[in-house]
Amino acid sequence: MKNQNVLITGGAGFIGSHVTRRFVTHYPDYSIVVLDDLTYAGNLENLKEIEHAPNYTFVKGNINDFEFVQALFQKHAFDGVIHLAAESHVDRSLEDPAAFVITNIVGTVHLLTAAKAAWKDQFEGKRFYHISTDEVYGSLGVEGLFTEHTPLDPQSPYSASKAGSDHFVRAFHNSYQLPVVISRCSNNYGPNHFPEKLIPLMIHNILRKKPLPVYGKGENVRDWLYVEDHASAIDTIYHRGKTGEVYNIGGNNEWKNLELVHLLCTIMDEKLKQASGTAASLITFVKDRPGHDLRYAIDASKLRDELGWEPSLDFPTGLAKTIDWYLANGEWLQHVTSGDYTKYYDKMYANR
Ligand code: NAD
Ligand code: DAU
Repeated sequence: MKNQNVLITGGAGFIGSHVTRRFVTHYPDYSIVVLDDLTYAGNLENLKEIEHAPNYTFVKGNINDFEFVQALFQKHAFDGVIHLAAESHVDRSLEDPAAFVITNIVGTVHLLTAAKAAWKDQFEGKRFYHISTDEVYGSLGVEGLFTEHTPLDPQSPYSASKAGSDHFVRAFHNSYQLPVVISRCSNNYGPNHFPEKLIPLMIHNILRKKPLPVYGKGENVRDWLYVEDHASAIDTIYHRGKTGEVYNIGGNNEWKNLELVHLLCTIMDEKLKQASGTAASLITFVKDRPGHDLRYAIDASKLRDELGWEPSLDFPTGLAKTIDWYLANGEWLQHVTSGDYTKYYDKMYANR
C-alpha cells in the first residue's frame, strides 16, 4: 500500500498505544498522528518507546470539539482514520451515562463528519476504521457465539453508546458511501491496561495484598485476547478488510471470571515466590455489577477465512507475559494509580 497519513484516535490508551506502536514501527513510511485528550485513561508513558520516531506526531485534543477536529483534518491530509478514542469502562458508564453518549456517539459523529468533509466525497484510497466491541451484541446464554449477523442488543450504558456509534458509522456508509470498516473484539488483556479492569486490577491488588473483588459468584464468562493480537488484527483489517464490512475478533478463549482469577493467583504465587494459595486467599465476593452480562464469546471465523488472521498466543503464555510486564513496570503502575502520569504530559509538552 502507498505511503499514508493515518490518524489514530485514542492512541494513548491501552489498545490504542499498542496499535500506534505497531503502525509507527511496522510502517516507517507512514505518517502517524495520534489524537488523544489524555483523559484519566490516556497516558503518554504508554508511547514512550516511539515518542521520538520521525513518523509520529502527538496531538492533544478532544473529539467532542468539532471545530478542533475539523481543523485537524484540514491541517493533515489523512488517508485513513483508526478510531479507538472512547470512554471504555462499563462500571463508569453506570455512574455517568451521558459522558459515554458524548464521547462515544457525538465524538464519533464529529470524526465521521470531518472525514467526509475533508475527503470532499472523493473516497478513492480512503478508509474510516471504527473500533467497536463485542458488547454491542448484548449477552449470550451458556451456549452459542456472536457472529457478525447477531443483532445488536446492548445492555449497559457503555455498550449502548458503542452500538449507537456503530449505527452512525454504518449510516455514513449507507447514506454517503463513506468507506468505513468496523471490527468488534472481545476482552483484551496485556501490558498498559488501566488497573480499573479485571486483570490489571487483580494483579495490582495481589501486589498490595488487598482483597480481590469478584462480582457476584464469578460465573460470568469473557473471551480473552492478548492486546498485541488485537493490534495485529486491526493492522490486517485496516489494510485488507472489505469496505462496508464488519469483522469479529476474538481469542477463542472463554474463561469464567472466578477460574481466571484463580489461574492469575497461581501464576502470581509462582512469580512472587510465595506459598501456593497466598494470592487466592485474597479473593472476596462482592455485590454484582447491575445488569451484568453473563457471557461473551466470539465467532471470528470470517476474519480467519477471509483475511487469514488468527491469535498467536495461548492464555497462560499471554497472562505470564502480562504479569512479567507489570512486575517490571512498577513505576508505570505507581504513576497511573497516584495520578502522577498526568505530570508526564506537562513535562513533555511544557515548551510546545
Ligand atoms: P482506554 O480507556 O484504555 O483508552 C481510551 C483512550 O481514548 C484514552 O487514551 C483516552 O484519553 C482517549 N479518549 C477518551 N475520550 C476522548 C475524547 N473525548 N477525545 C479524545 N480522546 C479521548 O480504552 P481501550 O480499552 O484501549 O479501548 C479502546 C477502544 O477499543 C474503545 O473504543 C473500546 O470501546 C474498544 N474495545 C476495547 C476492548 C477492551 O477489552 N479494552 C475490547 C473491544 C473493543
Ligand atoms: O468485551 C469487550 C469489552 O471488555 C470492552 O468493550 C470494554 O471496553 C472492556 O472494559 C471490557 O468490558 P468488561 O466489562 O467485560 O471488562 P471488565 O474488566 O470491567 O470486567 C471483566 C469481567 O470481570 C466482568 O464480568 C466483570 C468482572 N469484574 C470486573 C472488575 C473490574 C469483577 O468480577 N471484578 C472487578 O473488580
